[in-house]
Amino acid sequence: MSKTFYITTPIYYVNAHPHIGHAYTTIACDTIARRHRMLGDDTWFLTGTDEHGQKIERAAQAAGKTPQQFTDEVSAEFRALWQRMGLTHDDFIRTTSDRHKQGVQALWRKIRDNGFIYKGTYTGQYCVSDELYIDGIGPGDPCPDCGRPTETVSEENYYFKLSAFQDQLIRLYTEQPDFIRPETRRNEVLAFVRSGLRDLSISRSTFSWGIPVPDDPKHVVYVWLDALANYITALGYGSSDTAKYEKFWPADVHMIGKEIVRFHCVYWPAFLLAAGLPLPKCITAHGWLLFEESKMSKSRGNIVRAETIVDTLGADALRYFLLREVVFGHDGSFSFDALVQRYNSDLANGLGNLASRTLTMINRYFKGEVPYPSNAAHAASDDAIADAAKKTIADYGALFDQYQFSRALETAWTLVAAVDKYIVENEPWALDEKKDEESRARLATVLYTSAEALRIVTALAHPVIPDATARIWAQLGLGEIQKFDLAQLKWGQLQLGTKLGEVQAVFPRADKSAIERMQKMEEQNASGATGVSPVQPSAATSSAAPAKPEAAAKTAAAISDGKISIDDFAKVELRVAQVKTAERVKGADKLLRIEVDLGTEVRQLVAGIAEAYEPEALIGRKVVIVANLAPRKLRGLESNGMIVAASPEGGKPVLASFLEDVPVGTRLK
Ligand code: MSP
Repeated sequence: MSKTFYITTPIYYVNAHPHIGHAYTTIACDTIARRHRMLGDDTWFLTGTDEHGQKIERAAQAAGKTPQQFTDEVSAEFRALWQRMGLTHDDFIRTTSDRHKQGVQALWRKIRDNGFIYKGTYTGQYCVSDELYIDGIGPGDPCPDCGRPTETVSEENYYFKLSAFQDQLIRLYTEQPDFIRPETRRNEVLAFVRSGLRDLSISRSTFSWGIPVPDDPKHVVYVWLDALANYITALGYGSSDTAKYEKFWPADVHMIGKEIVRFHCVYWPAFLLAAGLPLPKCITAHGWLLFEESKMSKSRGNIVRAETIVDTLGADALRYFLLREVVFGHDGSFSFDALVQRYNSDLANGLGNLASRTLTMINRYFKGEVPYPSNAAHAASDDAIADAAKKTIADYGALFDQYQFSRALETAWTLVAAVDKYIVENEPWALDEKKDEESRARLATVLYTSAEALRIVTALAHPVIPDATARIWAQLGLGEIQKFDLAQLKWGQLQLGTKLGEVQAVFPRADKSAIERMQKMEEQNASGATGVSPVQPSAATSSAAPAKPEAAAKTAAAISDGKISIDDFAKVELRVAQVKTAERVKGADKLLRIEVDLGTEVRQLVAGIAEAYEPEALIGRKVVIVANLAPRKLRGLESNGMIVAASPEGGKPVLASFLEDVPVGTRLK
């Protein structure tokens, strides 16, 4: 019976549109899944979207949509992109689906019935972006993980007895060193758990966008407990049909980005232990894809979309680049220049060129049939290629199975280069001109050797560049590559007389204009998308900010149809201010009296944000104010300025704020 293999990606938050950071994880998993399928394993590959929680609720609000409408749309974008890229996930789980809700509630009941859930009260800081309570910081302090402002909350919640699992977890990491990969992440987690675990709040009652807690629907399940459970709910855990769960759980690999290691390596195994369920075999964390030197993310506004690359160079180009260029486990930079350079050097001039020259020569010199390698016309250089190919099969497999994709590909491409050199040194074109029998036999050997090496690289590279390799395979006359049993790959399997298919270039060379084209596509998307993209409160405001003065400058020349000049814009004095005090205005449900520090003075403002923010949550927070607004009186109180907030249709106002720390008094321009 074949062995099973179950691999998962994180499920992606739907507050951001998909970008190549998300594609990176999904491509890595797709590649691994494809290799396992080729090796004959009964493989299950799961991905999906994470759709609950306050962050999503607010993003929906900011987009003027209901959370369900909003999550339906963004989740569909992920599915459409993965389909367009030809990804081979076997299932796509949404946390808003009934099958998931039912599974989460079953898991909750199991943990509760086993005695690991109790009720308690939490008062302290909450980071909405990370959906995490933060201990050890005070009101107004930023989140130590992501730097965004935290909010002060006081809630009665259900708690999970995480502290009860400290010793078991330490034993797990120690006895099963491969549970967390790479080792650096394992050491971090070990240190974190050794420093002591506190019980974890696993319900929320201040918002409702989540899965109701069983038997207490005033509470919703904490979004991370909800999300992590996807790995089993998608297999049918908690439903009437658990066949897939029985077959595939525990997972062989949860693939994740390094920022969510704690959730996966501490909370998730603890939840499973509490429920008495088996643990995943391995959690592998990769690094971040950087663009313009920082982590590619919507909140930084530095994203690149996969569509742009797929439309210009094809999905294989993106897959190859990400796995070849970035050392898996480490951070790696993306740039269009580097992408095109890699594409040209390794794909167009490398594998693509080897395929077309080898196959074209077989067409020309042997009427499109794989020739017979003659013993009589044998040379040491042929053995060198055969030996190199055999070694490549072994090394590539070993490196790949340790997820050292870039080294595995490097090994395979060393073989490509060796075969290229072999062809140049053996000059098949000169052998053909000689027309004698010996030269003809030698020509056959050289072309057989080249074609066989090409076949081997093609089979090995298939999981990484599935499109192009399927085409090369067909050109080699070998049919469908997916059906090839990779476990049997050996030198010498290419049959004499195999009839080639139609030979066509698989990787046309890209020129400089490809870079410009892709850059332009991204610029256009960024400028067009800002108005419609679902914005997340603090982050999106700050990332969109730098674009505005530029846009204003550009339009300054054409001051018509409602547009203003840069001078008009300059009249508005926008400044960073810090909230010193905040209190409700008696008799006015919507108003807060706020004192802000402008660096040079403290001002009183009256703001209509009481329905969106608790006064305590504002203290210490940096906000943007219009500092030169004429004073006006509200409920008898003088307001000397205005706080800037996004005001979604029908939703609550969302304050503009900054990701980075900005000195009080700084002018926005
Ligand atoms: N919803 C949670 C995960 C729950 S899993 C039970 C989440 N979602 S996310 O949308 O923020 O996606 C995080 C994952 O997307 C990362 O862990 C990583 O796999 C991938 N990436 C998103 N941006 C990335 C980069 N810039 N670089 C590399 N991977 C990136 O966290």
